[in-house]
Amino acid sequence: MPSIFETASASSAIPITFVTKASWPAIKEGLSTEARNFAEANVYGAKPGSCLILPAADGRIAQVLFGIEDDDAKHRDLFRPGALPGLLPAGTYRFANAPHDIRLGALAFALGSYRFGRYRKSDSSDVRLVPPDGVDAAELNRLAEAAALARDLVNTPSNDMGPEELEAAAKQVADRFGARCTSIVGDDLLQQNFPLVHAVGRASTRAPRLIELVWGDASHPKVTLVGKGVCFDTGGLDLKPSSSMLLMKKDMGGAANVLALAQMVMDAKLKLHLRVLIPAVENAVAGNAFRPMDVFPSRKGLTVEIGNTDAEGRLVLADALALADEDKPDLLIDMGTLTGAARVALGPDLPPFYTQDEALAADVARCAAAENDPLWRMPLWAPYDSWLDSKVATINNAPSGGFAGSITCALFLQRFVEHAGSWLHLDIFAWTPSSKPGRPEGGECQAARALYKLLSERYG
Ligand code: BES
Ligand code: MN
Ligand code: ZN
Repeated sequence: MPSIFETASASSAIPITFVTKASWPAIKEGLSTEARNFAEANVYGAKPGSCLILPAADGRIAQVLFGIEDDDAKHRDLFRPGALPGLLPAGTYRFANAPHDIRLGALAFALGSYRFGRYRKSDSSDVRLVPPDGVDAAELNRLAEAAALARDLVNTPSNDMGPEELEAAAKQVADRFGARCTSIVGDDLLQQNFPLVHAVGRASTRAPRLIELVWGDASHPKVTLVGKGVCFDTGGLDLKPSSSMLLMKKDMGGAANVLALAQMVMDAKLKLHLRVLIPAVENAVAGNAFRPMDVFPSRKGLTVEIGNTDAEGRLVLADALALADEDKPDLLIDMGTLTGAARVALGPDLPPFYTQDEALAADVARCAAAENDPLWRMPLWAPYDSWLDSKVATINNAPSGGFAGSITCALFLQRFVEHAGSWLHLDIFAWTPSSKPGRPEGGECQAARALYKLLSERYG
């Protein structure tokens, strides 16, 4: 992805002035008579999100006015400037004054200029921004580029993003940064003891696999990222109705986001030993599909009864987490699009996270707020652990009752983590249902920027 930041033409860049209801009268006074008349003729009132393009005497664009919330507003959307790339014609722009948070404003501008152009190149936008003074353009570019990677992977439909293509994407990231990338494919999963990954993925004509990426100095602290890579989730024999199946190309959103995070980490050369694990499967329907009430061994040794073939994400993560846990990483992070229940609780834009490590929880919450990459802590509520009981196996993958679905999923995964220094689990959505500033509709990079800040602070 080419950078949207343009340092060369600072002098010819079109200025964007941020205005609030409070600052508008004074800013209006400072305009030329023509510009003031033009603003008045357009009944411009500096409403948050409103944009006015002011012409010069010769009819070219002289400057842009863009409304943001008042300083004392109850809620200020720090990503507001992210709407600009969708409002402005192609060209190079600069901030004439500072929005509420200049770094997040410039980042939002970059994130908001993303278009999914794989199948229709004309959709790509050519709006550029001169990086404001004092912001680290290379760092913003690193974040925006990784976000675009996550979004592209999620937006790519399943016919072009199966387990094999997801592996190719991981290899491409690995090659760029000199990481090692290997995989265990098909029946080898059984030989090498990943029974759950195999069971979920075996009904697809596209072979299931466990993808591994390793990078960095082995003497550095070990951080392992695990991402749910369900390339399409039909629900399996517990088939989803079509309305629920519609978006399930995004069910590899956890994998996309751990790859985005890995890319940020490697690009910034953080001082950590990185391992990424992606169980990549398609949850398909066929004669050899796994069934409700089947019982499988797991890598960890626990036996798992299938209460519902649609609770497949936790199954593939379970084997990957067990492997990750075996070499006792200092920090183990997993994420995936695991439950509809997380959306019922917190909606699409606020993914829940789970950890028993209080200091880590505080850091995650703080970094999420600082990066405008919202995350909200939910509890690993021990009293619900017994809901996972099975009558025939160690554990059931889908407790009946359906209460607290995101929590019981987290509790299920917790059974497979024992030795990691700290464990953090995120139940993400990886999708923006309708465009918001800096967040175009479609695949979304969720949690990766917040976690990158956390890792930068700890291992920068
Ligand atoms: N991939 C889905 C979860 C999902 C659905 C995420 C919609 C985002 C939007 C997951 O595999 C799933 O189907 N979960 C089930 C679990 C249930 C059967 C225990 C769910 O949430 O209904
Ligand atoms: Mn499912
Ligand atoms: Zn799923």
